[in-house]
Amino acid sequence: MKIIILGFGAVGQGVARVISMKKDYLRSKYNLNPKIVAVCDRSGAAIHEDGLDEELLLETKTGKGKISLYPEYGIPGMDSLQVLDEIEYDCLVEVTPTDIDDGEPTRSHIIKAMEGGKDVVTSNKGPLALSFQELADCAKTNNVEFKFEASVGGAMPILNFAHENLAGCHIESIYGILNGTTNYILSRMANEGSSYEQTLKEAQEMGIAETDPYQDVEGVDAACKIVILANSVLNLPVTLKDVEVEGISRITSESIALAKKEGLLIKLIGEASPNALEVSPRLVSQGSPFAVEGTLNVATLKTDLADEVTVVGKGAGSVETASAIISDIISIWKRRR
Ligand code: HSE
Repeated sequence: MKIIILGFGAVGQGVARVISMKKDYLRSKYNLNPKIVAVCDRSGAAIHEDGLDEELLLETKTGKGKISLYPEYGIPGMDSLQVLDEIEYDCLVEVTPTDIDDGEPTRSHIIKAMEGGKDVVTSNKGPLALSFQELADCAKTNNVEFKFEASVGGAMPILNFAHENLAGCHIESIYGILNGTTNYILSRMANEGSSYEQTLKEAQEMGIAETDPYQDVEGVDAACKIVILANSVLNLPVTLKDVEVEGISRITSESIALAKKEGLLIKLIGEASPNALEVSPRLVSQGSPFAVEGTLNVATLKTDLADEVTVVGKGAGSVETASAIISDIISIWKRRR
């Protein structure tokens, strides 16, 4: 399977690392031989139709900062749309930073790939939160696979879980912690009394915060995930502007300490149902399934047959998020075969 990776930040590098780590496993278990034929970042591209070396891609990015400096096959300044036009491939992995104003350039990348008959896997929330129906229709019209498990909850299985494991159930609502950065900040503030600024900085250094961390702390990232869940799982054709959003930037250390004294924790909770689309700080009891710490995400799906089902997992992180991307790639491979 020939793969193009657009975006080579934490998630893109995680995908290259996972492909490198799991090569033998993928071949022996699924007869899948993923070849990264092109990678783009802001500096340009690295392109090789026989497959780029994953370790050299990672070394180039960490050592030189620019993928276009990949030995021999780097092309400074080459544009991502041009790469999609000129390179032969099967599957686009779109992992550029999320833009919440117009979802670009991701939206154009995805549409171009689909119109060219290519399957798409993305972790990018922007275009899904702004134009979910357009992208889903485009996939259908062009008869291609469009998978985005990594866009909600990183390594926490939720979309494919809802569609496959809960296939016979009607899902009424989803309620949960959907942002790893804010959960990390709030847990550190509660447990160690660390400051908001310091923990946000740590989250950025760990590569879990968005390129623009405003999206995390003001609740926009969680709101994007609520929109994706509402469309994909609850069949509600909503967009980002339909979500009521309040973030955590006004939560003080004093209010966290006060809640703690009462056996409560402040968490940023998202809710999606036909009656509510909302992200806001709420109180949960210490010891409840929502009292998860660090970068963990958690979500409860309320269903007609199975009652409530709760999933939990790492909501952010390079290899963690790549685990969801590789699972989408395997699923596409199985269908295509
Ligand atoms: N910034 C996001 C988070 C990354 O902290 O959850 C995963 O979507």
